Amino acid sequence: MADLTTKFLGLNLRNPLIVGSSGLTDSVDKIKNIAKAGAGAVVLKSLFEEEIIAEMEESMHRMTSREFIYPETMDYMDHDEDEDSVRKYLRLIKETKAAVDIPVIASINCVSAQKWTYFAREIEAAGADALELNLFILPTDFSRTAAQNEKLYFDIIEAVKKEVKMPLLLKVSYYASNLGQLLQKLSMTGISGLTLFNRFYSPDFNLETYQVVSTNVLSQPSDLSISLRWIAVMANRVDCDLAASTGVHDGEALIKQILAGANAVQTVSTLYKHGVDHIGVMLDDLKRWMDHEGYGSLDDFRGKLSQAKSNNPASYERVQFMKSFRHFIFE
Ligand SMILES: Cc1cc2nc3c(=O)[nH]c(=O)nc-3n(C[C@H](O)[C@H](O)[C@H](O)COP(=O)(O)O)c2cc1C
Repeated sequence: MADLTTKFLGLNLRNPLIVGSSGLTDSVDKIKNIAKAGAGAVVLKSLFEEEIIAEMEESMHRMTSREFIYPETMDYMDHDEDEDSVRKYLRLIKETKAAVDIPVIASINCVSAQKWTYFAREIEAAGADALELNLFILPTDFSRTAAQNEKLYFDIIEAVKKEVKMPLLLKVSYYASNLGQLLQKLSMTGISGLTLFNRFYSPDFNLETYQVVSTNVLSQPSDLSISLRWIAVMANRVDCDLAASTGVHDGEALIKQILAGANAVQTVSTLYKHGVDHIGVMLDDLKRWMDHEGYGSLDDFRGKLSQAKSNNPASYERVQFMKSFRHFIFE
């Protein structure tokens, strides 16, 4: 019988399938169901940097008016007023940890290395097993250079690492000028893992109202190809674990990401479409395939189709359609 256990960020997972940060992971009850359905771990819905900063300023104001002047005296759990989103988040971590026995990874959506990083301590103290930093800079600020944008990633990691010992997972997008090298350098900063890649709301136009609307909130199975290529290219070339994310909708996609070299695989959209019981279907498919292929553990085939181990490494770098396009037209 196939053994699905795996190590990810130094944590022991019963299997590599992680439910990614989303509305699916924003309450204890939902996460209990996810754990019951068999997931290996969960990433909580992200808390936003702006929310943390707003609450810190509010707390500071309350405390200075009570003559508490040091930020170190802040205790988000002790206010007797209405619970804000930040304290709710810490409670979500605590209660989730008490309710499930799978690793719980907190998540912060950040765009700067400003004062919010202090708050990572609170997340660690609340009991999170790890922290995913969901970091996204859309390169649309024409006054900033690529180097300035990239520096921000390193600044944020450095600032958060000063605050906490828990494993850090960095979730990035593929909007970077020299992606392979950037990912490799990021992996050398002492982070424990990289999640490739986040997926964002994208704009579309409504031709009747002339309004800009968001489109394709949920991914399609065909969206797998970008993360699959980059997991395969980066496997064995980074100093940290790799989590695949985007377009993993079924057991086949899960298997492919492990063959590419992923240590863990995140999924979201397919669970919105099919419900969390789909986790069990995906894991059954993985087990069945491993039994059929004679693999006893994930390590028996992890990275077998990574670029580094491939007997045709150029196939990961072919980007032009010429040959296959001709074939497509003339057949
Ligand atoms: C409704 C929804 C909410 C999401 N919220 C977050 C979030 O708060 N933080 C985050 O890092 N990613 C968020 N994501 C992105 C997912 O974690 C994931 O990276 C993305 O959906 C790609 O995976 P998939 O193809 O399996 O859906 C969200 C996705 C969806 C569909």
